[in-house]
Amino acid sequence: MSKILVTGGTGYIGSHAVVELQARGHEVFIIDNLSNSYESVISAIEIINGTKPHFCLLDICDAENLNVYFKENGPFDAVVHFAAYKAVGESVEHPLKYYRNNVQGMTNLLEAMQQTGSKNLVFSSSCSVYGNATILPVTEQTPLKKAESPYGNTKVICEAIIEDVSKTGILKAISLRYFNPVGAHPSALIGELPIGVPNNLVPVITQTAAGLRNELTVYGNDYTTIDGTCIRDYIHVIDLAKAHVKAVERLLGNKNEDVCEIFNLGSGTGSSVLQAITAFEESTGEKLNWQMGPRRAGDVVQIWSDCEKSNNILGWKTELSIHDAMKTAWEWQKRLIKNK
Ligand code: UD1
Repeated sequence: MSKILVTGGTGYIGSHAVVELQARGHEVFIIDNLSNSYESVISAIEIINGTKPHFCLLDICDAENLNVYFKENGPFDAVVHFAAYKAVGESVEHPLKYYRNNVQGMTNLLEAMQQTGSKNLVFSSSCSVYGNATILPVTEQTPLKKAESPYGNTKVICEAIIEDVSKTGILKAISLRYFNPVGAHPSALIGELPIGVPNNLVPVITQTAAGLRNELTVYGNDYTTIDGTCIRDYIHVIDLAKAHVKAVERLLGNKNEDVCEIFNLGSGTGSSVLQAITAFEESTGEKLNWQMGPRRAGDVVQIWSDCEKSNNILGWKTELSIHDAMKTAWEWQKRLIKNK
C-alpha cells in the first residue's frame, strides 16, 4: 500500500481521484483549506469505498504548517496536487489572488516535499496553457501560446517550475493537462459542488434546470465556430480521476521515460456550448432555459485534445461520454436538492 497525499482532495476532481486511488488499495491523505469544498465529502468517500481517507484542514499557502504536516505524516510515496483556484473570469479580475494561491502554494508544496524526500508529483494542469491554439486538436507538442487568463498563466508557470525542479533530480513529475472535466460519481454521493455562484458550464446548467437559477447565459455567439459559441473538450470526471491513478502508478513503478512528463487528458472531441446544452437535454429529458449573452473575458475560442500520447504511453483512454457526464451531473444536482 502506497501513501499518497492529495492536496485539494475534497474538491471536485480531487474527491473523485481519491475514490479511484483508494479503490486501487492506496492509503490516501487529504489536505484542503475547504475554500471551495466541504468536509462532508470525506464521509461521502467513506460511504463509496468503505475507507475513510485521512483529512487535515490545511492551506498550502501556510508554509510553516505545511512543513509540520509533512514532517509528521510524510514522506509520501506520491503527491497529487489539485489545490488551486480555477475560475477563469475571477482570475482576470483578481490576478494576484491566483498567482499567490496557485504559484506560491505550489512552491511551498515542492519545498515541503524536498525537505521530507517525497519525490513523486502528479500536477493538475490545464489545456488553458495552449491559449487560443490555431491548429487543432492540440498535442503535447503544440507550442504554448500566451494564456488567455491569469488562471491559465498560473498553470504555465507551475509547469515550468516543475520542469526546472525535476531537472535537479529531487523531483519526478507528471503534469496532466485537463480539458473540461464534467459529470459526477455514479453514486451521486460526490460531484461538483462550488461554493457560491458557480462559473463552470455544467453546474450552471444543472442549477438552472433545477430552478435554482432563472436562466443560463451562453457567453457569446459571434465566435468563428460551427454555431458561434465556444468549443470545449468535455471529459467525464471519472475518466479523469482514473488517469491520476495511472500517473501515480507510472511514477511509483519508475515507468516514466523522463523526470518530467506531460499528458493531455481529454475526450478528443470538441462540443460547442449549444451542443453541450443539447447533450444535457437529450440525456436527462429536461428542457433548459437559456439565452444568448456577451462574451466572457478570458475565454478561448475553441480547443480540443489529441490524446494519442495518453492512450499509448500512459495507457489510459476515456470510457464515458458527454451524455454519461450530463446524466450523472443531473443525478448529483437532484440529490443536492433532496438533501437541502
Ligand atoms: C477552463 C479551462 C479548463 C479548466 C477550467 C477550470 C480552458 C479552455 N479550459 O474551462 O481546462 O479546467 O477552466 O475552471 O481554458 N459558459 C457559458 N455560460 C456559463 C458558463 C460557461 O456559456 O454560464 C461557457 C464558457 O464561455 C465556455 C464553456 O461554457 O465556452 C465552458 O466554460 P467553463 O465550464 O467555465 O470552463 P472553461 O472556462 O472552458
